[in-house]
Amino acid sequence: MKIDILTLFPSMFDGFLNESIIKRARDNKKVEINIYNIRDYSKDKHKKVDDYAFGGGSGMVLMPQPIFDAVDNLKTSDSKVILLTPQGCIYNQKMAYSLSKEKHLIFICGHYEGFDERIRSLADLEISIGDYVLTGGEIPSMAITDSIVRLLDGVIKEESHEFDSFNNNLLDYPVYTKPVEYRGMKVPEVLLSGHHANIQKWRLEEQIKRTEIRRPDLLEKR
Ligand code: ADE
Repeated sequence: MKIDILTLFPSMFDGFLNESIIKRARDNKKVEINIYNIRDYSKDKHKKVDDYAFGGGSGMVLMPQPIFDAVDNLKTSDSKVILLTPQGCIYNQKMAYSLSKEKHLIFICGHYEGFDERIRSLADLEISIGDYVLTGGEIPSMAITDSIVRLLDGVIKEESHEFDSFNNNLLDYPVYTKPVEYRGMKVPEVLLSGHHANIQKWRLEEQIKRTEIRRPDLLEKR
């Protein structure tokens, strides 16, 4: 899979691309992630990318030209163009699975006060990562990329995401490691029993219990 990210702040991605599972996935050629500076596509002699809003209003608006040119340059028949905006549909694990099957994703990170409405016409999909407003689409694009890359074949062990929270609309079950007792809190006996079927049964019960308490809305979807 290839992921291209258009941003005005490329260095925000340095840590994200060069640590942990994302770094390993890139090193092992499971994913190619490219960061493009929107400013590099500006035809303005001062590399200007934004301007005042027609009709007035505070803040600067991203101009269409650099973004249209960047997308024209990167897009192929296999590409899906995604615009990050608080006005998009709310992201979830099901969308992560669906996007992880795509060959090429292009993320457009909006910034400042907004982007020219015509930029919307480039997008196959508009995504929001939640009902709150961030300063730009950079963090949402990292969150979405992270959730997709971990699902790609060979990036993490399949069992690791088989029981993820939200698969089957259930939250994850509790896990424990050593020591068996810590500050008076004990690891549940069943987990020490070595009885695989009982452990599986306990885990499913815990998933249901936890979901009932914390996210009853998910159970309604089951
Ligand atoms: N840009 C600013 N806030 C956002 C959000 N919540 N989701 C996606 N993109 C955004």
